[in-house]
Amino acid sequence: MRLAFGPRQTFHFDGRVPGDKSVTHRAYLLATRARGETMIKGALRAKDTDATLAVCQALGADVEADGEDVRLRPPARLQEPARQLDCENAGTLLRLATGFLAGSGLFAVLTGDDSLRGRPMRRVVDPLRSLGARIEGRGGGEFAPLAVLPAALSGGTISLPTPSAQVKSALMLAALDAAGETVLTDLRPTRDHTERMLRQFGACLEATGDAVRIAGGQQLVSPGQVDVPGDISHAAFLLAAAVLAADGGARVWGLGLNPGRTGVLAVLRRMGAQIETVTDKDAAAEPTGEVQVRPGGLTGVDIGGDEVPSLIDELPVIAALALCAQGVTTVRGAGELRVKETDRIAALGRMAEAVGGDFEELPDGFRIHGREHLGGGRVDSQGDHRIAMAAAVLSLRCEQGVEIDGAEAAGVSFPGFFDLFAAASGR
Ligand code: S3P
Repeated sequence: MRLAFGPRQTFHFDGRVPGDKSVTHRAYLLATRARGETMIKGALRAKDTDATLAVCQALGADVEADGEDVRLRPPARLQEPARQLDCENAGTLLRLATGFLAGSGLFAVLTGDDSLRGRPMRRVVDPLRSLGARIEGRGGGEFAPLAVLPAALSGGTISLPTPSAQVKSALMLAALDAAGETVLTDLRPTRDHTERMLRQFGACLEATGDAVRIAGGQQLVSPGQVDVPGDISHAAFLLAAAVLAADGGARVWGLGLNPGRTGVLAVLRRMGAQIETVTDKDAAAEPTGEVQVRPGGLTGVDIGGDEVPSLIDELPVIAALALCAQGVTTVRGAGELRVKETDRIAALGRMAEAVGGDFEELPDGFRIHGREHLGGGRVDSQGDHRIAMAAAVLSLRCEQGVEIDGAEAAGVSFPGFFDLFAAASGR
């Protein structure tokens, strides 16, 4: 599907955004292995998370979905799936489900689309094997399809220096089925949704800065209801659009403000945007609140180090801002971008080139010299939802607008994005 957006001076948004993708994946999986049914309110209904729901059903969960309210009744015992589990485009699902199944005693085969079957899996497979998991896959377990064989896991101490919440979470889920305690060490700061939600489901774990300690043999118990906050990764596109439009403003409420996810707000501030945040007083497991943004100047910034995991998914839209900012933006320490839904460093380079921007690829990031005038052109999403949406944001400042090929990719995480974007920019 090709969509075209011309430049606009205006962008106004006031509302909520769909539910958090990371939280929704976790809610479905934990509800499937807990005792008692769970009502998941405000769930993200998108391709990625619906794939997780289908995996949970294949494992025996009974699901009743009414839009964003999903009631999930777990099976008395997990069922051995009769077919391959299709994780489609969802890296979070593939990695978390591998950990989830590692000690389940079941045989299961996990696969996904072309992009997902090319993404690295040894980062989860190797540490899971060190707990005793039996996992086979292409390239010695580097690539899906992955076969998880029945195995008895035993706890242990595992160093996990890859800054990945998916890897950490996969190990935590497996540790629940292990005999004895598992200690994850050398963790870099990443989103802690799994730690928070495991506690909501009654699990005992100790998370201290760079380590997580979790006892094996724990039965999860449903808290009855899980509230999914709005996804800050969705909101980032709207906030960025409001910063780019001369007459712009956005207010997003009911938004997840987990400190492991708010790096984009800090960057928008450093770039010159005026941002106000109000945290809800009665935030339950996940901090939530309201964010309001008004355009200020837009200047280049340096991004790197431990800040990167807190904004890794927002780097495509940050790149869109940087292309229009005054001065230079440099992103380092973000080599993970190369193994996302696409090689996002290369994909952003192509996006920048298509619109006449000045973009330099670095091995672990990029450098952008912002330009006051961008011509515009045709951008191919390359099947990557975040590239498709970043290109739409960029169109606001491109003199001849932007045509987006493969715009349907946005449905992976944010169905309805383009309608919302069009309405907010007065189309
Ligand atoms: C996610 C963690 C991040 C992020 C992804 C979702 C999660 O990936 O990029 O979109 O839900 O745990 P990594 O853990 O691989 O960094």
